[in-house]
Amino acid sequence: MRPLVVALTKGRLTGDAVNLFSRAGILSDGMKSELAALEKKSRRLIFSSADSDFRFFLAKASDVPTYVDYGAADVGVAGKDTLMEGRRNLYEVLDLGFGACTMVVAGPEGERDRLKRGNNLRVATKYPRAALDYFVRRKQQTVEIIMLGGSVELAPVTGLSDVIVDIVETGSTLRENGLTVLEEIAPISARLVVNRASMKTERERIAQMIKKLKAAPR
Ligand code: PRP
Repeated sequence: MRPLVVALTKGRLTGDAVNLFSRAGILSDGMKSELAALEKKSRRLIFSSADSDFRFFLAKASDVPTYVDYGAADVGVAGKDTLMEGRRNLYEVLDLGFGACTMVVAGPEGERDRLKRGNNLRVATKYPRAALDYFVRRKQQTVEIIMLGGSVELAPVTGLSDVIVDIVETGSTLRENGLTVLEEIAPISARLVVNRASMKTERERIAQMIKKLKAAPR
């Protein structure tokens, strides 16, 4: 029997994902420490469990849905923000409950009115598709999207954009830069996603995995 391949997101979600899979009895203690080493210093990118039931790897957040879509991983753990942006054709089967934050439109308080009705606002974001979807499809507003790689809060502060679309967790990055949440777009958390073919061919093993993850002690 081939191992079930699981793609985890490298970064903020890694710790919580590893702990959950471990509490669910899917990751042994040995595998857990191997994954921790993988995240920190090891140059090795993938490893299998001793009994070869599972193979785990850590990928960049935005790449996890790609691995799952093409079937290089049967299952993945990814943030809802990444899934909204990637728009891959995957089964989203479980809200894993960690990585909770909100996708918002944020900016200086003074932009609140313009944001309600105005057109041609400049919107800086790491999520161009999700942002466009929100403004054009949900709000019927014309906007100019400016794609950035990170530290998006800098954009309104420097005059690059009027507002931003970004995720907010504690709100401290916004506060420290004199910005505020102007509109909420969607609640975000980590989700379990499954490749469409694997859902059929590995139905039983995937169902077992979901059951164990649901039953894991909090
Ligand atoms: C995320 C997000 C915000 C910040 C929100 O960025 O894009 O900038 O965290 O967190 P807070 O509400 O708790 O302050 P991240 O740290 O992932 O880095 P990046 O901006 O470089 O992508």
